[in-house]
Order: sequence, then C-alpha cells, then structure tokens
Amino acid sequence: MTEKKYGIIGKPLSHSLSPLLHNYWFKKYNIKASYSLIETEVEQIGEIINKIKKKELKGINVTTPYKQNVIPFLDLVINSAKETSSVNTIYLNNENKIVGENTDVYGFDCSFIKRLKDKDLLEKKILILGAGGVTPSVIYALVKKNIKKIFISNRTIEKAEDIKKKFPFIEIIVWENINNKSQDIDVIINTTSLGMKNGSDFKLVFKKFKPELVYYDIVYNPLETLTLKNFKDQKVKTFNGLEMFLYQGQKSFYLWNKIKPEIDDELKKIITTKLR
Ligand code: ATR
Repeated sequence: MTEKKYGIIGKPLSHSLSPLLHNYWFKKYNIKASYSLIETEVEQIGEIINKIKKKELKGINVTTPYKQNVIPFLDLVINSAKETSSVNTIYLNNENKIVGENTDVYGFDCSFIKRLKDKDLLEKKILILGAGGVTPSVIYALVKKNIKKIFISNRTIEKAEDIKKKFPFIEIIVWENINNKSQDIDVIINTTSLGMKNGSDFKLVFKKFKPELVYYDIVYNPLETLTLKNFKDQKVKTFNGLEMFLYQGQKSFYLWNKIKPEIDDELKKIITTKLR
C-alpha cells in the first residue's frame, strides 16, 4: 500500500508542531502515512485543496491565516465549521466531496470547558481577547454550552464587530479600556497571537482583577507567555493552549483515520520537550 500523505497549510508554518503530533500517532497505530508542513501562498490554496480530489493528499489541516480562505474551495462545510465559518480540517468523503470541518471547537471544549465543568462557567463573565481565526471557535464552544456572558476586545475593533454579527449577544470592550473593565471579569481568554515565540507581548498589564480569575492562553509556544506567568505568580488559575492543540489534533486524526488516538504521556513529553 502506498503511503498516505497529510499536511498543514498556513503562513508562517515553521512553528507548527502538527507534524510531530500526527506522525507520532501514525507510528503508534501502524498507519503507513506521513504528515508535513505545506508552505502555501494564498493564491495556491485552491491548487493544494484540489490534491485531495486527485487523491494526492488524504487530509489537510488549516492554520492561521487561511481558516476562512479555504471555504470557497470546499464542496461541503459542516457542523462546527459551518457555525464558525472557520475550517481547520479537510478530507474527502465517500461521495467524493471535499469536506471542511472544524476541530478547534472540540479542542477548546475538551481542554477548558470540560475541565472546569460547564455549570461553573454558566454565570461567569468571560472576556475574550482577540478576533482572529480561532476566536469564533472559542465563542461557539462556549455558546454551545449556553455560556453567553461574553465580552470581546480586539486591537482592531472592526474585527470584533464582525464577530458580533455572528454572535450578536456578545459585548465589545474597547481595547484601550480593558484595564477599566478587568476587575469585573471571571475568565480571560487570550486568542491573540500576543506572547507567541518571536512575536510581540502584551503591552497592557492587567492591574485589577478578581482573586478567583481564571486565565486561558491559546498560545502554547512558549508554554508560558509572559502574561500567563504574571498571572500564575499572582496565584491566578491558568491554562495554556497545549491541551487544545492536542485535542484539535485528536479529532482531525479521527476524521481521517476513524481512530481516536490517545493523548498519552509519551506524546506530551515529546511535545513539551520540543517546546522547552
Ligand atoms: P488572523 O486575524 O489573520 O486570523 P490570527 O493570528 O488568527 O490572525 O489573529 C491574530 C490576533 O492577534 C488578532 O486578534 C490580532 O489583532 P488585530 O485584529 O488587531 O490584528 C491580534 N494581535 C496580533 N498582534 C497584536 C498586537 N501587537 N497587539 C494587539 N493585538 C494583536
């Protein structure tokens, strides 16, 4: 049997750990397949997706900034991908249709909502920082659990307004005003790229916040952003984005191989070692 080929498209890609993740599972489950980085310019997206129809590629993950750009090239956009207009997993179904799904919603749910128990979150005020590619997935995962006291703040307010069109009940907080509002917030979720390796960090420091605040940072490279570390030092309960990364990968793998791969200790060790 020939080797099945998978890959991830996005830009930049060099930081992606998805090859490590999927190649680990292919080996563990004895699947003859390989997963690689596919450096892609925006005008090449159609051509790459078409390789799925031609069976040159079995599956694709999509990362920043193409989670929306891929949509016109797909035959079907289903489930969470439809609800969020954000696709991170692509495959060919039995009817030869190219399907776009979203596994970030599942990833956020498993890594955060399930771990905190929904009932603890129901009445909580949640502030989402950022309005990028992954933000609708975070919001939709919360909304699915009926968690709706959501505030959003983004440097470029128009992008927060676009998200509000999809989820009209969310309230916008002006980026420069976060510090005046933060003391009323129960959960802060960073969906911006601030704090990422080789990127810029938060200029704003959260001065006022509840002692029982929970801080979730979607960033996993590094495992502790400066902001996360600051909160942790002040005894705030914190989560980094590593588990979300692992769980979104778990669901992608399942969609492609019909095996729910285990997130085992060895895998976690390999990934965290790579991140140190
Ligand atoms: P995209 O928006 O292209 O999908 P992304 O990585 O998913 O890219 O999103 C980047 C997010 O990080 C955005 O919310 C972005 O804010 P803008 O919409 O204002 O660009 C945010 N971000 C990135 N760098 C930032 C910075 N230096 N200060 C504040 N927010 C920043």
